[in-house]
Amino acid sequence: MSLNHLATRFGCTWPWETLVLTCDGRVVCGCADPYVQRVLGDARTQSMTDIWNGPAIHQLRTDLNGGGSTFCGDCPLKLPLDDDQSPSVRDVETGPTLGRVDFFNYGETFLHKRAVEMCEYIKQHHPQIYLYTSTNGLALDEDRARRLVHSGIDEVTFSVDGATPDSYARYRQRGDFERALANMRAMTDEKRQSERDVPFINWRYILFTWNDSQEEMDTARTLAAEIGVDRLTWEITDHPESAFSRRFAPGTTDHTAIRREIWDDNNLGNAIPGATPRAEIAVSRLPGIPLVGRSGAQLRLRTRVRNLSTRAFPAQASYGRRLVRLGAQLCTAEGQVTNRDHARAWLPDTLEPGQTSDVEIDIPLPDSRGRYRMKFDLVSEGIDWFEDCGSPTTSVPLLVW
Ligand SMILES: C[S@@+](CC[C@H](N)C(=O)[O-])C[C@H]1O[C@@H](n2cnc3c(N)ncnc32)[C@H](O)[C@@H]1O
Ligand code: SF4
Repeated sequence: MSLNHLATRFGCTWPWETLVLTCDGRVVCGCADPYVQRVLGDARTQSMTDIWNGPAIHQLRTDLNGGGSTFCGDCPLKLPLDDDQSPSVRDVETGPTLGRVDFFNYGETFLHKRAVEMCEYIKQHHPQIYLYTSTNGLALDEDRARRLVHSGIDEVTFSVDGATPDSYARYRQRGDFERALANMRAMTDEKRQSERDVPFINWRYILFTWNDSQEEMDTARTLAAEIGVDRLTWEITDHPESAFSRRFAPGTTDHTAIRREIWDDNNLGNAIPGATPRAEIAVSRLPGIPLVGRSGAQLRLRTRVRNLSTRAFPAQASYGRRLVRLGAQLCTAEGQVTNRDHARAWLPDTLEPGQTSDVEIDIPLPDSRGRYRMKFDLVSEGIDWFEDCGSPTTSVPLLVW
């Protein structure tokens, strides 16, 4: 069990990144304050901008720059500092942009009768905001599930821990497996019929002692593929003590075998067979000869990209995320990445499973002469590099003169 809440010297990033709105309208600091003990403001009487720039959060940021704050009390989100570690010092004034709404925390969002309406409101008034929710899927019905698809919400996670009604109900007590699945199915069906590319739909499955057999996990893989969710991932937990999966405890060979499919490992790995993004990238050049170019110039390269997975790589996306592009990363001669975002190229078209496409990429060459390497990988924009879920990359030597 973590003892972080006892720390007297600590850091934290929450007051620079996120406000948490509780169901009564008060705004607290951090996602671990269900009893509203650390209040920063009240959205019933203040604007979010005023709270974000108000005296309470201003003082908190100042305190944290000094290595801790009494405001935090026994908050479990403290990041303890070592005795010899200095606190990070950040600007106490931060920009007012709101980029993302996580529409859930404790409890179940869709128990609120107007929850779907709230999603519609957010996306109608602020379409640029990434709207995400996590649900047990039990408080929805088919109509609301279908309507939620049309709200424009960007991503929905269904928390469904099991692949049979009995094992599901051991943790989700009095839960109805068939209902959760029916709502998941209604959303995938509505999305397909209306040819929308959002929401991205995850099935997140916590592994416990009673639902971690090969057989049950394979059933989940088959069901997820058949329902048409975008992603199935496993959650490894360490609680409740009596229940967490021993088979998949970190360090075991079973854990290693599914590592890429684990929620916290990366953002692209997928337990649906073949659905983890995987590509082969060939760079057109004379065998054994490095890429060569003049310092400060631009090099146009021809590459050939092959989709080795069972899912298409979209060349475009209505909401500017999850589209796939080719990336070139600048590395030292020894292969150490020095600029992961050195160059990008669009795929000419959506790359279907098994398909190959020729992709040209323009690479600005460094100003300093010398030996380098250029590493090529695909990136799902705004989500992750393919390498992070195990896809092979291609690295070629580069000589700049
Ligand atoms: C607290 S729930 C609340 C949101 C919503 N009602 C839901 O079920 O997704 C948020 C997340 O916590 C996860 N969760 C619940 N029990 C957990 C456990 N014992 N270990 C790790 N995660 C857990 C759920 O799977 C869910 O993804
Ligand atoms: S540790 Fe302090 S700053 Fe961090 S989330 Fe908790 S209350 Fe906020």
